[in-house]
Amino acid sequence: MLLEKMLQSQGFGSRKYCQQLIKSGAVQIHGELIDNLKYKVNLDQLAFQVYGQNYVYREKVYIALHKPKGYECSHQATHHFSVFEFFDDALMNRGLQCVGRLDQDTTGLLLLTDDGQFLQALTHPKKHVPKVYEMYTADDVTDAQLQQLELGVELRNENGIFAATEAMRLAEKQLRFTVHQGVYHQVKRMVAAVGNKVEQLHRAQIGQLGLEQLNHLAEGEWVYLTEAQIELAKQRAE
Ligand code: URA
Repeated sequence: MLLEKMLQSQGFGSRKYCQQLIKSGAVQIHGELIDNLKYKVNLDQLAFQVYGQNYVYREKVYIALHKPKGYECSHQATHHFSVFEFFDDALMNRGLQCVGRLDQDTTGLLLLTDDGQFLQALTHPKKHVPKVYEMYTADDVTDAQLQQLELGVELRNENGIFAATEAMRLAEKQLRFTVHQGVYHQVKRMVAAVGNKVEQLHRAQIGQLGLEQLNHLAEGEWVYLTEAQIELAKQRAE
């Protein structure tokens, strides 16, 4: 692939701008300065530098972020920060999107990608990818609430029944369960529907990929997913 095209595909800017980067001597391939516009790169295991910063060629990007509180999943965040503030311009130019949304006050595992097929595979309602949530509640979690969550509840303005699986009381006011859909405020509304209230919400797992498989990523940290982790995120059950 032409060097300028490769740079453009990685989010460095317009074709013209990428040509300027090359001509100005800002680009190195495997440590060697390349200022020839006709240069063709081999994309396999490609490592390069722009202005001395290291990059690896990625056809698509798959990212896991441990989202902190106070960040919105929208580009134009209004009252809080945006999760996109964690990423540089090159990643943003690639059209990075959140795979589903977490509320601004929810913490935990958030995936981001520029691969539309991956996004569909994880968010399409028919795919039923499980998501595990842990939460603190305002009142004690009762057996009746656990049963009702597993039986399912109706949510206003949504079709169907929303049921949890593996609902488990972790402490008097602490609960974990798995959901398979992803409608607006789903977990908070399900808990409200059984007569309790979510005080603090955390997503621990998507598919079979949990924060523990990501080296217990700290809040505000992100990593690129490996091939194996991408597959885990898509998996319904072990
Ligand atoms: N359900 C909610 O209510 N909020 C989230 O952030 C995610 C799921």
